[in-house]
Amino acid sequence: MNFSIDEIDKLNYNQLIGIVEETNRPPGGIKTILHFINYSNIKNNSKILEIGTSTGFTAIEIAKRIDCEIVAIDINKDSLKIAEDRAKKYDVHDKIKFSQENAMNLSFEDEEFNFVFSGNILSYIPEREKALKEYMRVLKPGGVLFAVPMYYKKIPSDVFFEKICNALKMEITVDTENYWNNFFNVKSLDKFLAEKYEFDYIKNKEIQNFVDEIFEYHNNEIKKK
Ligand SMILES: C[S@@+](CC[C@H](N)C(=O)[O-])C[C@H]1O[C@@H](n2cnc3c(N)ncnc32)[C@H](O)[C@@H]1O
Repeated sequence: MNFSIDEIDKLNYNQLIGIVEETNRPPGGIKTILHFINYSNIKNNSKILEIGTSTGFTAIEIAKRIDCEIVAIDINKDSLKIAEDRAKKYDVHDKIKFSQENAMNLSFEDEEFNFVFSGNILSYIPEREKALKEYMRVLKPGGVLFAVPMYYKKIPSDVFFEKICNALKMEITVDTENYWNNFFNVKSLDKFLAEKYEFDYIKNKEIQNFVDEIFEYHNNEIKKK
């Protein structure tokens, strides 16, 4: 893929992570996925829908551990292509069907899935209530929605938040724990587990190393332009 600096500059966060092939993980990474597996009683004949799989990390990590059927969706075609290649690399491609879908308007039948896994996706979806309705529609009765939304413990300043939106090139909102508690407090959902985690503080140097690693991976193609 060839991109000019202008083109790269116009990409939003979701598009960029697909192109740089970042191993985009849900908040908490592999620990979150292991938690999901341990708490969810997934069986070999379970059917899981992963929303916003990006480059496939969650679907692949589940498939490595359990013989179930996984459908992993994302709105971004480039990310899905990378996810498919990664699934082949780990030899789990027979268990996962990657599909381009919009979480707000899923093409699946009612009550098709035992589990819906939604990492930190809802933060990026403009009509979140519509997406949640879709999750509920495709879940079987007694099915489980596992969601990992992110929220601010301390409300950031307007200036700082504007910088975040500019960097992401997306209009996101400052969500709080209370906001998500209310959001998921719907009649058709019973809360049976809720846990809170905090992100580790990451030093600038570690962030820089991560960025360097991504550039390195692309043989400096991006840097050169
Ligand atoms: C930050 S990444 C999430 C990564 C990770 N899988 C997780 O569980 O948190 C957000 C992903 O959601 C996808 N996405 C954004 N809006 C979407 C929508 N309406 N329907 C499906 N996927 C969407 C983006 O393309 C991106 O790959």
